[in-house]
Amino acid sequence: MALALPSLLFCLVLLVSPYLGCSYHTIYTHGGKHYAVRSLRGEDDNHGAAPAPARGPSPPRGAWVSIPVRGDPKEALPGAFQYHVVVGFGTPVQVVTVGFDTRTTGATLLKCTPCAATEPCDEAFEPSASSSLVQIPCGSPDCPFHGCSGPSCTLSISINNTLLGNATFVTDKLTLSGYATMDKFRFACLEAGFRPGDNSTGILDLSRNSHSLASRVPTFPGTVAFSYCLPSSARTAGFLSLGAIKPELSGRKVSYTPLRSNPGNGNLYVVDLVGVGLGGHDLSVPPTVLAGDTIVNLHRTFTYLRPEVYSALRDNFRQQMTEYKPAPPLGELDTCYNFTGRNFFAVPAVTLKFNGGADVVMSMNGMMYFPDPSNHFSIACLAFAALPTNAPEAAVIGSRAQSSMEVVYDVHGGKIGFVPYRC
Ligand SMILES: *[C@@H]1O[C@H](CO)[C@@H](O)[C@H](O)[C@H]1NC(C)=O
Ligand SMILES: *[C@@H]1O[C@H](CO)[C@@H](O)[C@H](O)[C@H]1NC(C)=O
Ligand SMILES: *[C@@H]1O[C@H](CO)[C@@H](O)[C@H](O)[C@H]1NC(C)=O
Ligand SMILES: *[C@@H]1O[C@H](CO)[C@@H](O)[C@H](O)[C@H]1NC(C)=O
Repeated sequence: MALALPSLLFCLVLLVSPYLGCSYHTIYTHGGKHYAVRSLRGEDDNHGAAPAPARGPSPPRGAWVSIPVRGDPKEALPGAFQYHVVVGFGTPVQVVTVGFDTRTTGATLLKCTPCAATEPCDEAFEPSASSSLVQIPCGSPDCPFHGCSGPSCTLSISINNTLLGNATFVTDKLTLSGYATMDKFRFACLEAGFRPGDNSTGILDLSRNSHSLASRVPTFPGTVAFSYCLPSSARTAGFLSLGAIKPELSGRKVSYTPLRSNPGNGNLYVVDLVGVGLGGHDLSVPPTVLAGDTIVNLHRTFTYLRPEVYSALRDNFRQQMTEYKPAPPLGELDTCYNFTGRNFFAVPAVTLKFNGGADVVMSMNGMMYFPDPSNHFSIACLAFAALPTNAPEAAVIGSRAQSSMEVVYDVHGGKIGFVPYRC
C-alpha cells in the first residue's frame, strides 16, 4: 500500500504537516492513526541521520528570554534523550551546561569545586573565581538546612558513613543571555562526590519553589512563567522560554488544563488526567481509577499509568496491531513490534485527556519508542508502562510524551497548556 501512494499525496502530506522533513520516512496522522511511510526518495532508513527538517523551531516571540534546548542521547537508553541548556553563573560569567527540571527538591543544584580527587573537574563551577557570589548565612530564611551551624548554609552529605561532600547554599548572578540576567539567584553548590547523573554541571530548578528560576522570572501582562519544547531528535533544537508570551496571543492553538493545588508537595505542578483515548475512541476506564495526581515530568523518559489504565491501553493497542510482528519486550516496555522490511505501518494514536477539555494527541515519537531513532522500520515499542501499585501518583507524563510540543506553565493563571508540533 505504501509503495502505491502516489507522490502527489506524499507532497500534499508534506504541505499540510508542519513537522515533516522529506527524510527517510514520513509520518502523517489521519483518522486517529499515525502512519509511517518509507520515503520514496531515501533508499532505506539505515544510513545515518536523516536531513534536518526544513523548519527550525520558532521560540515564542517577545519572551523575556528563549534559550536553545539540546537533546543529548542517553547512553543507557539509545534513542532517548536528556535535555540540556547552556547558561552562565557568576562574575565573570562561567559557562555551564545544565539540565532543567520541574520536579526537583526545590533547589537549583550545581557541581562546584573542589571536586573529589577521582572526579573530572573541568566542568565544575568555581565559586572562588566569582566576585558576585555571596554565602547565605546559616539561620537565614533562605537557608533550608536547619541543622547547620557556622557562617555558611552548609550541610555535609554522607551515604553509608562515607562523606560524599558538602552542599552549600549561595547566591550569585545567573546569565541566560546578553540582556537576561538575574542577580542573587539562589542555588546549592555541591562539592566533591556529586554527580548529576547525566554528566552535565547541574540542574536548573523550574519547580514552584519561591527560589526557583520559574518563580524569579519577571512577570508582564500576557506572559507566562515559562514554556519549553523538547526536541524529538538530536538533530533539532528545542527551546526554554522564560517569561514566554501566552501562545493564544500569538494565534496558536493551545489546550489548557488547570493546575491542582497540592498541599503534599508545594514544589510540584500537578494536573488531572481524566481519560485516555486510542485511535479516536475513549478507553473505558472508571474515573476513580484515574483520580489522583498527574505529574508532568522531565527526568523520566516514558509515560506511566496506573496498572488498570495501562493494561486497558496495552490490550486495546495490541488488538489493533495484530497484523504486525511482535518483538520481545525492551526493558520495562512490554508491547513491541518488529517493522523490519515493511514500507509502511500505522499505529492508533494515543490521546491524553486532561481536566478542562485539554485533549493532547501524542505524536508518533511521543507515544512510540524507537531504539534506533534513525530507523523507524525496525523495532518499536509502546512508550508506556505501568506504575507500581503503591505509587503515589495517578500518572507520570514523561519527557518523550512531551517532545515536539510546547508545554506552557502559566503559574499565575493556574494552568498548564500544550501546543502541538512546536519544535
Ligand atoms: C549502602 O550500603 C549497603 C550495604 O553495604 C548497600 O547495599 C547500599 O547500596 C549502599 N548505598 C549506597 C547509596 O551506596
Ligand atoms: C565540609 O564542611 C565541613 C564542616 O562544615 C568542613 O570541615 C569540611 O572541610 C568541608 N569539606 C569540604 C570538602 O569542603
Ligand atoms: C559528557 O561526556 C561526553 C564524553 O566524555 C563529552 O563529550 C560531553 O561534552 C560531556 N558533557 C555533556 C554535557 O554532555
Ligand atoms: C526483526 O525481524 C527481522 C527480519 O524479519 C529479523 O532479522 C530481526 O532479527 C528481528 N529483530 C528482532 C529484535 O526480533
